Amino acid sequence: MKQSILVTGGAGFIGSHCCVELLDHNFNVIVLDNLSNSSIKVLDRIKKITGKELHFIQGDIRDKVLLDQVFTQHHIDAVIHFAGLKAVGESMQVPLTYFDNNISGSITLLQAMQQHRIGHLVFSSSATVYGENYPSPLHEDLPTAQPTNNYGYSKLAVEQILQATAKANDLWSFALLRYFNPIGAHQSGLIGEDPNGIPNNLLPYVTQTAMGKREVLSIYGHDYPTQDGTGVRDFIHVVDLAHAHVKALQYLFTHKPSVGIWNIGTGTGYSVLEVVKRFEQVNQLKLNYQFVERRAGDVAVCFADANKAKQDLGFVAEHNLDDMLRDVWHWQSQNPDGYA
Ligand code: NAD
Ligand code: WQD
Repeated sequence: MKQSILVTGGAGFIGSHCCVELLDHNFNVIVLDNLSNSSIKVLDRIKKITGKELHFIQGDIRDKVLLDQVFTQHHIDAVIHFAGLKAVGESMQVPLTYFDNNISGSITLLQAMQQHRIGHLVFSSSATVYGENYPSPLHEDLPTAQPTNNYGYSKLAVEQILQATAKANDLWSFALLRYFNPIGAHQSGLIGEDPNGIPNNLLPYVTQTAMGKREVLSIYGHDYPTQDGTGVRDFIHVVDLAHAHVKALQYLFTHKPSVGIWNIGTGTGYSVLEVVKRFEQVNQLKLNYQFVERRAGDVAVCFADANKAKQDLGFVAEHNLDDMLRDVWHWQSQNPDGYA
């Protein structure tokens, strides 16, 4: 019998790519999303790519009554939990909104799962839980550190809640996936990242500058102790990241660890300037950019030790930087206004 996966936040950037991967791996997919940062149009696109239907429920993970209905009406084997707010800057302006959505939302989801005796959950964590002070590569054994922003705090808090919850009850089997920098888009050009307003993250800013929607890309900092003075990050193709979720699910089903923690990155860092230059080369275009002051809160270098995911999950990222930059441009140029 097919296994059924509840995907919270499944209409979002990473969630939509994960739905494609799950459908391609023959899972039944039930998406719960309040569409606060995504478009209903993504559902048709997923269907176009996979030729398969998923079940969509528009609603909020903080809605206890709705969650009870979802778990009563559907047979669910596991949950992949993407739903959350993710804008670092905004999290400093409206901390309680972030804590309510990301922390209280996760608790409400766990309570409903417990009530319905569903114990497998994959959680979207972030490299932000390592804080700012460790040299890369970052290994999962490093103690987590106090994040400097409220978004990061919400991720660390949920990680800690999951660890404490798992200790108390052998129902649970949790995968904490610490993503590095997801970029790229599905090769079809049908789904991709569609940020609201002015993008904070590098790649949406790069593609919007290339489109002429933004005048100039500001590169934050040219004096970091790196090969060319710009920040270094571990960029991972969102399709690889989606694949890692299927691997993690399979691991939970076969090994049933109480809690497993895995970095999901490539293990290789590229500088911002390298990304910009490769983007120009791969897509045969010129990008308008300027160097400006460092951005507050940025670290010089951040990349994963990706060995644990390889050993335990058999996960290795397959797409290289050029693939990521080609696919992200394909998505943006095919969809100049995203899903609008
Ligand atoms: P996204 O905003 O595109 O997707 C999140 C989805 O969750 C959206 O569709 C949104 O509508 C939905 N959502 C938000 N709050 C909800 C709620 N209360 N109830 C139901 N649905 C809700 O973001 P993404 O980039 O796909 O990120 C997915 C997850 O991965 C998030 O938890 C994010 O914090 C985490 N993460 C993202 C990155 C990144 O760089 N994109 C890095 C590390 C971790
Ligand atoms: C990457 C590099 C910038 C924009 C953030 C979150 C992290 C995680 C992923 C969710 C840095 C530089 C950027 C620009 C630039 N999210 N940059 N000009 O900061 O590594 O990580 O997203 O969990 O928690 O903090 O990603 O894409 O913002 O920046 O020069 O316009 O690009 O300084 O060196 P970051 P990013």
